[in-house]
Amino acid sequence: MKIFVDTANVDYIREVNDMGVICGVTTNPSLIAKEGKNFIDVVKEITTIVDGPISAEVISLDTEGMVKEAEELVKTINNKNLVIKIPMTPAGLGAVKQLTAKGIKTNVTLIFSAAQALLAARAGATYVSPFLGRLDDVGQTGMTLIEEIVEIFDIHAIDTEIIAASIRTPIHAIEAARCGAHIATIPYPVIMQMTKHPLTDIGIDRFLKDWETVPKD
Ligand code: E4P
Repeated sequence: MKIFVDTANVDYIREVNDMGVICGVTTNPSLIAKEGKNFIDVVKEITTIVDGPISAEVISLDTEGMVKEAEELVKTINNKNLVIKIPMTPAGLGAVKQLTAKGIKTNVTLIFSAAQALLAARAGATYVSPFLGRLDDVGQTGMTLIEEIVEIFDIHAIDTEIIAASIRTPIHAIEAARCGAHIATIPYPVIMQMTKHPLTDIGIDRFLKDWETVPKD
């Protein structure tokens, strides 16, 4: 399973990219809003940091508007790694069909059922993003959705990649990997939590203390 970072914060992106653990970035309007900066400037900056898929979302709700926005983004950002995030609606599916025909990569977002994932894949989506944390929030088991989509895509040899999204904990990331998600898009704090284990810290302390007792000439 590949790891993307789910943020629009360029400092966080730079840090996890330098750690060598991520190979893509997902943003959304809420993450962009948090940064208080111009959308295009932020996405352009991200493209200078990470050489991998970078998702930027449209905000139009009609097919024509989504396609227009996507084409403008492609033109303005002018980077091979740009992926257009499209919301999972009938109009969104129409936009995915048109963008796919034009060779523009798409990430269908806000997927909450296997039926939605199947339709998005059939419309030509490069990626689908099932939101597991938000399902957990409303009392459904998000991980079951990942399992279902993995199973369906496997049976039918669908090459759309599954991005496990709305990840809240390291356990979400590990379970998504066990279920066979191709990618997990993980917030920066969760990636940092994943680096930690108390026994690692205790081990380092012990090695350093023991090292002090080694005779030095
Ligand atoms: C995915 O691409 C979304 O940006 C993201 O994972 C949403 O997560 P949230 O439910 O924590 O907002």
